[in-house]
Amino acid sequence: MSEATIEVSGLRKRFGAVLALDGMSFTVRPGQVTGFVGPNGAGKSTTMRVILGLDAAEAGTALVSGRRYQTLRFPLRVIGSLLDAAALQPGRTARNHLLWLACSQGLPPSRADEVLDLAGLTAAARRKAGGFSLGMRQRLGVAAAMLGDPQVLMLDEPFNGLDPEGIVWMRGFLRGLAARGRAVLVSSHLMSELQDTADHLVIVGRGKVIADTSTAALLAAASGDRVTVGTAAVAQATAALELAGATVTSGGTDTAGGNGTLTVTGLTAESIVALLSGRAVPFSEVSAHRVSLEAAYLELTRDAVDYRAEPAREATR
Ligand SMILES: Nc1ncnc2c1ncn2[C@@H]1O[C@H](COP(=O)(O)OP(=O)(O)O)[C@@H](O)[C@H]1O
Ligand SMILES: [Mg+2]
Repeated sequence: MSEATIEVSGLRKRFGAVLALDGMSFTVRPGQVTGFVGPNGAGKSTTMRVILGLDAAEAGTALVSGRRYQTLRFPLRVIGSLLDAAALQPGRTARNHLLWLACSQGLPPSRADEVLDLAGLTAAARRKAGGFSLGMRQRLGVAAAMLGDPQVLMLDEPFNGLDPEGIVWMRGFLRGLAARGRAVLVSSHLMSELQDTADHLVIVGRGKVIADTSTAALLAAASGDRVTVGTAAVAQATAALELAGATVTSGGTDTAGGNGTLTVTGLTAESIVALLSGRAVPFSEVSAHRVSLEAAYLELTRDAVDYRAEPAREATR
């Protein structure tokens, strides 16, 4: 069996006057959660529909573990997906919905109960899906995606409609899948939802990729490797740090205590602690500057206003 991946290359898709996909290309690798982020209308759902053969692209290819989706005999065993949690037969119970799907994929009925448990839906198994909240529908969608124990998972906006507890659960669930070697693609129009979840980010706007980066690299670039140093010996600390090759800017002095704050670049927090300790320069704080994923995203797209969300322009799909 080939490695679990999603490979999208040069996808183009037009809906009338709208160019929904304009050369969309990226790879989703195993053992990672890949966040697929961009404003509403950026082409995330369309890309996912093309991957599943639900929309035809005019150009480009989409492969799941090296194969076109349409050529998979039991697709749910290869890729599990959740595109539209509302797409349910409302009169069917959660369990019957899963039994029907399991049957279509040559899977044993016991799988339905296993995935209900996995999604935390055992207590609601015999309730009609039509009465489910959006959060419960998302969980049922996750259960369905897991039926065939696939190596590749793809979820479109799975955080939508989840309460805070559900968001924590979803994050842990996605992380667990990646930890067990699965390739996981998860879309969101809100960067903040992917904080502490995505290892890798494919950031998109207007049908194409703006950035394809590890989350760690994006955060490091946005933080500018700045370190904050709090010290009562501003002059002494500045001299020692500059001698070691760092660039130091003073963030002002608290006159009462004579305590100052320095912003330092060019040295890691660890080496600053070692340096100041070694020279017996007193300090009260040495901390690496941290930025939120949201702030990093805004910095990345600062010069590309084109790619920002225009709330009135697109409806969420
Ligand atoms: N079935 C469709 N008919 C017409 N336009 C569509 C259709 N599906 C998507 N679009 C348009 O394609 C663009 C990309 O949409 P979509 O892939 O849903 O973006 P996202 O999921 O990133 O919000 C948008 O301009 C959207 O309005
Ligand atoms: Mg969408």
